[in-house]
Amino acid sequence: MIPPQVLPGDDVESQNTSMVEQTDASIIQTMRQLIGLIAKHNHAYYVLDNPTIHDHEYDSLMQQLNALEQQYPHLIQPDTPSVRVGGAPLSQFENVAHTVPMLSLGNVFNVEELTAFDQRIQERLFGQFYQYELELKLDGLAVSLHYESGCFVRSITRGDGETGEDISHNVRTIRNLPLVLNNAPFTDNDQTIATPDVLEVRGEILIPKSGFERLNREGLAKGEKAFANPRNAAAGSVRQLDPKIAAARPLAFYAYAMLGEQAQAIGLQTQDQTLCYLQHLGFGLARKPQVVEKLEQIQHYYNQLIEERVNLPVEIDGLVIKINDLKQQQQLGFLSREPRWATAYKFPAQAAMTLLEGIDWQVGRTGVLTPVARLKTVNVGGVMVSNATLHNFGEIQRLDIRVGDTVSVYRTGDVIPKIERVWPEFRPINTLPVQLPSLCPACQSHVVYVEGEAQARCSGGLYCPAQRVEAIRHFVSRRAMDIEGLGERWVDSLEKMGLLHTVADIYDLHQHQAALLQLEKMGEKSVNNLLNAIEASKHTTLARFIYALGIRGVGEGTARMLAEHLQTFEALQQATLEQLLKVPDIGDITATLILEFFKEPHQQTIVNRLLAAGIHWPAPAPRTRQPLTGQSWVITGTLSTLSRDEATQHLQALGARVSGSLSSKTYHLVAGEKAGSKLAKAHSLNVPVFTEAEFLDFLKQYGVAIS
Ligand code: IVH
Repeated sequence: MIPPQVLPGDDVESQNTSMVEQTDASIIQTMRQLIGLIAKHNHAYYVLDNPTIHDHEYDSLMQQLNALEQQYPHLIQPDTPSVRVGGAPLSQFENVAHTVPMLSLGNVFNVEELTAFDQRIQERLFGQFYQYELELKLDGLAVSLHYESGCFVRSITRGDGETGEDISHNVRTIRNLPLVLNNAPFTDNDQTIATPDVLEVRGEILIPKSGFERLNREGLAKGEKAFANPRNAAAGSVRQLDPKIAAARPLAFYAYAMLGEQAQAIGLQTQDQTLCYLQHLGFGLARKPQVVEKLEQIQHYYNQLIEERVNLPVEIDGLVIKINDLKQQQQLGFLSREPRWATAYKFPAQAAMTLLEGIDWQVGRTGVLTPVARLKTVNVGGVMVSNATLHNFGEIQRLDIRVGDTVSVYRTGDVIPKIERVWPEFRPINTLPVQLPSLCPACQSHVVYVEGEAQARCSGGLYCPAQRVEAIRHFVSRRAMDIEGLGERWVDSLEKMGLLHTVADIYDLHQHQAALLQLEKMGEKSVNNLLNAIEASKHTTLARFIYALGIRGVGEGTARMLAEHLQTFEALQQATLEQLLKVPDIGDITATLILEFFKEPHQQTIVNRLLAAGIHWPAPAPRTRQPLTGQSWVITGTLSTLSRDEATQHLQALGARVSGSLSSKTYHLVAGEKAGSKLAKAHSLNVPVFTEAEFLDFLKQYGVAIS
């Protein structure tokens, strides 16, 4: 039974205070219960792929454990999952010799070679009955894992097969890796196997496809270089001295072997039984093992995998065929670098070399220009490929890729093919660096590329057809012009009917009542409500109007600053760089983006139409120094008496700036319930913290009463 204080969803902070009086023994007991629960849920999530609690409940368990560990560092348990956040960096890698060399596998590529492999087995097994066990050939990084007394102690890369590097500090952070083995006995065929004292498991570390896509997306947005494929990303992650890097990467480990002699010594008889045993100990398997007898079954499985490959969560480059019986494996033995009892039935290559014939630019819904490589059509793993993504302009500059270059194209089935590498040695003479187009291919507005940013953007946000839906969606949103009833579905339909090209058309919709009534599910009442909401939106504030224009880098806070400091819309339209830079919060990049916005004649036309439609606002209150002017506040956790938005508005009304990120310059943190890392950071930076009650008292001083 778990004591009530560790059940997910409970308030962590109130427990901390009550635990001060607890004895070491009871704290250890609570820690052990939390560790047990977390391990159980990790296993359900990562290994069984069947989560049994919500993410926030899981987070709550972790937070409770972290809070206890912070408070009682001397009681931290050796198998705590908090090691998964990564400890101190190493200064260098240590080379370690493998107990038994890590070999590679032979390859077959077609039925003939497969048949020849089977023939060799038959000959060596002298008419014995034998079966094959089939596994996915995972395209990651081979590692060996060592466990002593059921605890993870070390992990070594394959290296040259004889000696590898100790990467335990990184491997320890892998979420689906058991740090402690399940010690319940394993029962199979009336036979019971206990967990051995010393165990060596081998398998593959990889990054699942979804994690890889996310990693690259996030990296590219931060201006980092894209990883060419999940394998490189996984390899780059575990070969880092600082384990925090690996901890932040979505790495996974899948087991495929135990040392053969060790498996037999504890009573295991077959490879499929070994895998089930490893799963019982807590390891993830890429897939349930398959046992077959005939070559046709292998071929069938192989063909099926080629079909399924695209939809598999992980990258595979073939099928591994292993003799199932461990004694027969031993009998067959090894060639110099590979076992005789196993081979890889490889898929056709997923990469191919071809020529880059040109680059097209596509505009996304937020105005980002994405370069698309036009390739000389090439067969990549059975699919004809003639386009590949190049991510962004920054990536082109980093790769120094040029039209005419020979490139390697890499394909992972469901995702768009990528350029994996450029071969400068095959570059023809007289090639030129790729130029960014000066005009947007969708709307001919000028393209803005701020040096140091990865992405180039079209500056015609309100006008560009590629950005139309996004611009309208933002314009009508609650915190912008607040036009209720003009949801995305209507925007789409109205756009298709030719009634809504730009945000300015919203204010002409009253002329098209009949057309509006024809829209599905639009009765007279909804049309009236919509038209009324549009009319009402004309009366707004300058800050909202500026925000609604969707100028890059101008969020609500910045819009408010601009309104307060410049006072009129004309002043904003005519502002110079120097004037903009005088507005607090506005740096070079935002200032440039504002100037570019108003420089674009297409935008001016739309803005003029909006003003002509009658959008108006009261003159902003003259800027007076308010009590919290110049202070930056951060709010975190859940507040119970008011929403975060309301808290933000109160603070802003008193002149404070409310930011999402905490730094040493933060003036005050308001921490609601379940405050997490920000609270810890505030403590470490000595930023003063208010609880919700203290915050309400504070507001009261300024006449803000919240009931
Ligand atoms: S067994 C002695 N099983 O393939 C046999 N290897 O080309 C050892 N690999 O370095 C390997 N999936 O990293 C085995 N299910 C699987 C595998 C697998 C991927 C990798 C492994 C090895 C390479 C050999």
